[in-house]
Amino acid sequence: MERTFREQFFFLVLCLSVLKGDSRYIENNEILKDELYSFFNSELKRETPEELMYRRPLRCLDMVAVEGQFTFTAERPQLSCAAFLMAEPNEVISVDYESVDIDCRGGDFITVFDGWVMKGEKFPSSQDHALPLYERYVDYCDSASVRRSVRSSQNVAMVFFRVHAAGSGFTLTVRKHVNPFPCNVLSQSPEGSYTMVIPQQRRNCSFSIIYPVSIDVSEFSLGHYNNFPKRTVPGCVEAGDFVQLLGGSGIDTSKLLPITDLCVSFSGPTHMKIGCDNTVVRMVSSGKFVSRVSFSYRLLDNQELQTIKLNNVEDFCFNN
Ligand SMILES: *[C@@H]1O[C@H](CO)[C@@H](O)[C@H](O)[C@H]1NC(C)=O
Repeated sequence: MERTFREQFFFLVLCLSVLKGDSRYIENNEILKDELYSFFNSELKRETPEELMYRRPLRCLDMVAVEGQFTFTAERPQLSCAAFLMAEPNEVISVDYESVDIDCRGGDFITVFDGWVMKGEKFPSSQDHALPLYERYVDYCDSASVRRSVRSSQNVAMVFFRVHAAGSGFTLTVRKHVNPFPCNVLSQSPEGSYTMVIPQQRRNCSFSIIYPVSIDVSEFSLGHYNNFPKRTVPGCVEAGDFVQLLGGSGIDTSKLLPITDLCVSFSGPTHMKIGCDNTVVRMVSSGKFVSRVSFSYRLLDNQELQTIKLNNVEDFCFNN
């Protein structure tokens, strides 16, 4: 079953990924302190003994969802390659350079991106990521002497690479680490359930499902509801803390369209079928409260998709 999902997923990635000019970020990438994760670096690092590591070759367009060592060897000049890395929602990914034989001066590069890029769009969107965009790209050629290991902020990361000379290449070790406070998550599969919690932090988090899904919001609690039950709040934005359901075709959550907002004044349905390529549950948190939302989702079948298409009033994803 899992294998089928992965295959479907990989196929989807192949379809979606037109790697538009994003493969090299020119700006000089001075390495800054990885504040966010330094505190659990030592404790939660699960070292897998080298000899037990899973190993396989890395393809020019690849999807990696397991820990292991991945070796790329160019058979001919390969100028636009990308590997999509993915872990469980409560994990982050580290990429270590093992042996690298590329010609940086000749225009080869290996760049790790903190997130995914598809069709020029990024996940997490710049708005919802703790780091500025330029810090999310770490180029091997700029940083080899400084940093041999790069860690993602969420359960997805990406490696862009270009190797001109046949026979040249590199080996990467990919590891997963427990993330005690997941914020942005890209779902590995088209079905599951999830509880998102923002513990009194002023930040926004997104859970992205890149499939058309039926989604059930079973519970959401935004602190102020309990504290000020009598307060009337006209719209969700004024509420400061709210949950958004977004939909659209790209992966940048800031470019998706709002399907509905859930907040104090919310009284609509919490069960929805969304025929979009990407469905996102986004929580906006003012930092004053502990906010939490639980939901479950499953893939829409063809018949359901057809029905949504016919009643396209219900769903803007088929309107264009
Ligand atoms: C969270 O999102 C809201 C609305 O989209 C925005 O006004 C606010 O500035 C964002 N907060 C942070 C910390 O990015």
